[in-house]
Amino acid sequence: MTGIEGKTAVVTGAGQGIGRDIATQLAANGADVAAVDVNEAGAAETAALVRETGRAAAAFRCDVGDAADVERCVREILAWRPEVHFLVNNAGIARDNLLLRMSEAEWESVLRVNLTGAFNVTKALSRSMIKNRFGRIVNISSIIGISGNAGQANYAASKAGVIGFTKAVAKELAGRNVLVNAIAPGFIETAMTAALPEERREWMRQQIPLCRFGTGRDVAAVALFLLSDLGSYVTGQVIHCDGGMVMS
Ligand SMILES: NC(=O)c1ccc[n+]([C@@H]2O[C@H](COP(=O)([O-])OP(=O)(O)OC[C@H]3O[C@@H](n4cnc5c(N)ncnc54)[C@H](O)[C@@H]3O)[C@@H](O)[C@H]2O)c1
Repeated sequence: MTGIEGKTAVVTGAGQGIGRDIATQLAANGADVAAVDVNEAGAAETAALVRETGRAAAAFRCDVGDAADVERCVREILAWRPEVHFLVNNAGIARDNLLLRMSEAEWESVLRVNLTGAFNVTKALSRSMIKNRFGRIVNISSIIGISGNAGQANYAASKAGVIGFTKAVAKELAGRNVLVNAIAPGFIETAMTAALPEERREWMRQQIPLCRFGTGRDVAAVALFLLSDLGSYVTGQVIHCDGGMVMS
């Protein structure tokens, strides 16, 4: 895919799931990858998978919700590769509960990783993108941030926040050739969704017009489009990758 080869990408939450698929697909298309995750072993495994494709990779342990840790990590990444072209803010968690049972800790932890995490990493890395007059940022939101979902007030608020954040930063950085978009995945087969009871999974399958759950590679394909030259005239957008589950 044009515009991916020879570039350097940072992928957060790259230690498993969608983040790992994005990292390996970027590498398969010629990018070098910094795999960032709070789970160091997961990030190292992803870096090894990237190297198997013949591209360079490095693993970085980092809690995206901690601004000081992110600053430290971004310094290390920029020492590894002085120019980062792509950032995928993918790290995310869910702590589901009904509103009346939701603790402050459940609310805070999800906002901290999913929304503040995207803010921290984007702020730290966009400095060099602005200086280089080139950058492509993809934020992984969710259709839950658009449609809402009972039992996920914290998650929905964080993912809706990511969409507002994406649009504001897209307007702020467009003049510096830094494009910022979001992907709203639907039901994707990963550890996050494997934890759901089978009955709930079947109910969800029935809500999907394409009649199947998505894969990490489906999401990676949309990310690749947005990061490549094919997406050069797209910024501030939210692309659904959900088999038609939520149409807006
Ligand atoms: N799986 C789905 O159906 C689905 C749907 C919509 C959106 N999403 C979003 O896609 C992203 C990836 O989801 P997934 O299903 O692959 O999840 P996952 O739980 O399989 O992977 C998430 C990764 O993020 C890492 N992580 C968690 N907290 C972190 C932190 N503080 N700092 C750094 N890394 C951290 C984890 O260690 C893990 O490797 C998330 O943002 C999620 O909200 C997933």
